[in-house]
Parts: sequence; structure tokens; C-alpha cells
Amino acid sequence: MKCLVTGASSGIGKDMCKVLSKMGHEVIMVSSDEDKLKKAFKAVKGYNTLAVDLSTNEGANKVIELIRKEKPEIVINDAGFGAFGFYDEVSLDREMEMVSVNVLALHKITKACLEYMGENNYILNVASIAGLMPGGPLLSTYYATKSYVRSYTLGIYEELKKKNSKVNISVLCPGPVDTNFNKVAGGLFSISSLSSDYVSKYAIEKMFKKKLIIIPGFSVKMGYFFQRFVPTKLLLSMMFKVQHKKRNG
Ligand SMILES: NC(=O)c1ccc[n+]([C@@H]2O[C@H](COP(=O)([O-])OP(=O)(O)OC[C@H]3O[C@@H](n4cnc5c(N)ncnc54)[C@H](OP(=O)(O)O)[C@@H]3O)[C@@H](O)[C@H]2O)c1
Repeated sequence: MKCLVTGASSGIGKDMCKVLSKMGHEVIMVSSDEDKLKKAFKAVKGYNTLAVDLSTNEGANKVIELIRKEKPEIVINDAGFGAFGFYDEVSLDREMEMVSVNVLALHKITKACLEYMGENNYILNVASIAGLMPGGPLLSTYYATKSYVRSYTLGIYEELKKKNSKVNISVLCPGPVDTNFNKVAGGLFSISSLSSDYVSKYAIEKMFKKKLIIIPGFSVKMGYFFQRFVPTKLLLSMMFKVQHKKRNG
């Protein structure tokens, strides 16, 4: 099958490309840093690359053009980033860039896929365990973007079902994963992280099994289950402490 993966130059996106390529699929790899993308392309043995900045309309539109031309049967919206800090420490420009990549580009690409996709086609949107939480102090914009991804994907899932569509849509919600994410966001994880290799294999396996919400790792699943019994204000205060530790190492 033909696949298109955004965020393919590193971390979870690159490792998902590896898994798909090893399975014999043709992988079109998308990210913004051309040099990183070329290196990843060699390592993955991909099918094609497209270097575009998904924080711009122009970048997202180029991906959509390519999608309309190539009609990949599998599309994975993985590109995304976060930025640690109080609301007045992270610049508005950086926050808007984040909303553009994590939300707007993902939304536009998903909608373009739904124009042509049919039976045995897959869309996998990468959210985060952040998207299942009430909010994320010190990463507020990031958590909000991932809530959008979770909510949008689940809504589309039900609409597809009602239209008897055979398109499969899933949302990946990992906890901490060992990638470049922290370096980009400017923080450290204070709790243990899973390997990107494990998360990627798990995600692809569950996507093909048509699982709707994919949460890798037992402790993350348990954390998600039990957090719903904690009052919201207490949970936010606990999360602030965890995020504050991340910032300070
Ligand atoms: N690591 C975690 O703990 C974790 C947990 C839950 C969810 N996630 C999610 O997993 C996804 C992948 O993150 P990761 O952990 O693998 O981090 P990563 O190693 O930093 O990978 C992020 C990818 O997104 C791409 N990207 C960022 N900004 C872009 C832009 N403006 N235009 C095009 N591509 C862009 C990067 O490519 P370039 O550098 O080439 O632009 C890179 O390939 C993200 O959506 C993240 O929110 C991560």
C-alpha cells in the first residue's frame, strides 16, 4: 500500500515509517528539515519525500496536492511539537505555529483524505495522553491542541460509521516517549518514557486492527483510567507539579 507520514524525519514518525517500509509498503515521508528528512529517508528506504513547513498554509497545501495526486491508502498525521512554559513565557507566534502544525495541518490533511479514501484505507492521527486530560499547566497550548486532535478524530469516526464508510480512523495517545520532543519543547520527563520503536510498532499493529483509541504502555493506560476519579482542580495541581519538575529536570 502507499502511505504518507508527516513528522517522518525523527522520533515516532520516522519509526512508524520504518515499520511500514519493512512490511513492504511504499512510504512518502514529510517533514520540514530537508537534511534530516534525507537521512531518515535513507535509513527507512522510503518511496518519496516532501520537505514542507506545516505551520504555513503553503506547506499544508503542498501536502494536500501530493495526497490528491498519489492517493495514499494510509495517512499518518504525526508532525507536532510542544513548548514548555507559563502562558506569558511562550511567545504567541510559537503558540500559533504549534496550533498550525498540530491542529490546522492535521485537520486539512484528514479532510483531504476523506475525499477519496475507501475500504481498507487508514488515517492515524497522533494526539497524546495529553489529549485525554482536562488540561496541562505549563504546556497549556500543547494539551489543548492534542484535545482537539482526539475530539476531532473521535467525531469523524462516528460520522464515518453512520455513513457506512469503510475508512478506518484512529487516534494515537502515547504518554512520554524517548524522542526529540523534549529538546524541542524545552523540558525533561520526570517519569519514565517508552521507546519510540516500541510505540511505533504498537501503533501500527493497532491501527491495522482498527482500534479507535491507541494507548501504548500499561502504566499510561492505568494512569488514564484512574485520573477520571480525581477531582479536576486536584488533578490540575498534581499535573502542574509533574510539569514543573520536567522543566527543572
Ligand atoms: N515524545 C513524546 O513523549 C510524545 C508523547 C505523546 C505524543 N507525541 C506526539 O508524537 C508526535 C511526534 O513527536 P516525537 O515525539 O516523535 O518528536 P520529534 O522527534 O521531535 O518529531 C517531531 C516531528 O514533527 C516534525 N515537525 C515539527 N514541526 C514541523 C513543521 N512545522 N512542519 C513539518 N514537520 C514538522 C519534525 O520534523 P522536522 O524537524 O524535520 O520539521 C519531526 O519529524 C508529535 O505529534 C507529538 O506531539 C509525542
